[in-house]
Amino acid sequence: MSKILQIWSLSKTFPGQLALNDATFDVEEGEVHALVGQNGSGKSTLIKVLAGFHDPDPGHHVTMRDELFAMGSTQAAHEAGIRFVHQDLGLVEAVSAVENLALGFGYRTGFGRRIKWREETARAKQALLDLGFDINVRVPVVMLSGAERTGVAIARALQDSEHNISILILDEPTASLPGADVDRLFEAVRRLKARGISVVFVSHHLEEVFEIADRVTVLRDARVVATRNTSELDMSSLIELIVGHKVTAASVDRTIDGSLTPRLAVSGLTGLGLNDVSFEVRPGEVLGVAGLTGSGRDTLIPSLSGAIDRFGDVTIDGVSLPSGDPGVSIASGLAFVPADRLRNGIISMMSVRSNTTIADVKRNKTGLRLNHKKEKAEANEWIRSLSVVTTGSEAPVSTLSGGNQQKVMMSRSFRLNPKVLLLDEPTQGVDIGAKEEIHTFVDSAAASGSAVVVASTDSAELARLCDRVIVMHKGAIVDTVLRNGGSGAGSMAERIDQVLLAGSSLVAHK
Ligand SMILES: Nc1ncnc2c1ncn2[C@@H]1O[C@H](COP(=O)(O)OP(=O)(O)OP(=O)(O)O)[C@@H](O)[C@H]1O
Ligand SMILES: [Mg+2]
Repeated sequence: MSKILQIWSLSKTFPGQLALNDATFDVEEGEVHALVGQNGSGKSTLIKVLAGFHDPDPGHHVTMRDELFAMGSTQAAHEAGIRFVHQDLGLVEAVSAVENLALGFGYRTGFGRRIKWREETARAKQALLDLGFDINVRVPVVMLSGAERTGVAIARALQDSEHNISILILDEPTASLPGADVDRLFEAVRRLKARGISVVFVSHHLEEVFEIADRVTVLRDARVVATRNTSELDMSSLIELIVGHKVTAASVDRTIDGSLTPRLAVSGLTGLGLNDVSFEVRPGEVLGVAGLTGSGRDTLIPSLSGAIDRFGDVTIDGVSLPSGDPGVSIASGLAFVPADRLRNGIISMMSVRSNTTIADVKRNKTGLRLNHKKEKAEANEWIRSLSVVTTGSEAPVSTLSGGNQQKVMMSRSFRLNPKVLLLDEPTQGVDIGAKEEIHTFVDSAAASGSAVVVASTDSAELARLCDRVIVMHKGAIVDTVLRNGGSGAGSMAERIDQVLLAGSSLVAHK
């Protein structure tokens, strides 16, 4: 196969940080090329430099179809036929796919400069059909599924065909997609490949790399450590390339005293797609929540956290929590980490220190004044124990890579020693080493007596963490999978998947 893009000696220095160190990378015609590496290893930096979003350090050499390619502007990348879909997708969610596509392109206007809506709609419909998405292009994008929204973003990136588009680069397109949506997205990737377009994608889900990528490039500590054909690798050798050593996941060994009074009791929880949900969690117990998107799995934690109005009773140690007032819930011993950290958690203009300590600053007061030294020391301790990649506690949190921002969010909740800890997709976008670190922290929160609830689309994660997993369907609990002595054969993850599949076939038949 011929190489379209070739990069040699690409480096990028941020103040105090070498984010990309002498990287070599290439893309072959019509291949799917995965880019993997731990949080902060430089994947997004490589992409953003290529996109012209950051200026590279001098000394690099880049060619596009054997001609010298001068990076450094979005225009240059565009003209070279490279298109990007960044992780946040950049869609305007309140308007339709048609309008999102037109926004990126400029509306087609006819005589008298009226927008030709019929043409725009047909064009959007066809662009999405070409990717395998037969969807309503006139409803607000917010109503579409994750894969469909990603499809709209891809269609928008690819629509301007007057330039010869040769490479599409997707930064973590599957990070927040449940399994079924990943399949639909990969179907679109296969179609692009069939059209001769090369696809580069970033993912922390390594099974996806083996499923769809022809080659994989591994970044570690800002350096490219390997580019291989995926057929020459297996999972454990890929993991070893990523982290630099072998990784073994700890397994949980806990017994929950069934006679203990429940720490968290939920009864008759109703609202936002939930219908009369009741369960209890004892101190030291980790309860998992599984389910497809829209099943209630995705709204249970926001509803419990008090972030949205609900009906029903939620009590911690017998004390009732109000609906719609997260402040009171936090004061009663509840801590939660939301799934969409960029929208609901991280305060991007503040430092790592403030983001860590904001939920309880009193603890670092001496007299009436905030003791900055003490606060810094505490933040640095969290940076160390969760291996957060940053220049230090004073760095703006916006300069951290996505996965490292997630770890900062975790430390904010963990340090509260909550009675009840609610985690929504706790390791979304987190690399495999950090994932294990976060899992170990969840173990220790349970060991210190917290009642933990984890909602996740990742069955292996639920199996790693939970004593018991409730499976949601149409807003209700339809099944419970137990770590010990559950019904059915297979590992706990397999048993969760079986129940989920049974649930989706129910949907299909209705
Ligand atoms: N604008 C910036 N200013 C300063 N440092 C930055 C900036 N952007 C990235 N960095 C640093 O560069 C390093 C690489 O970050 P990058 O975002 O490329 O990581 P990544 O491999 O994409 O990680 P993740 O998997 O978490 O998304 C990180 O240590 C990050 O803190
Ligand atoms: Mg990134």
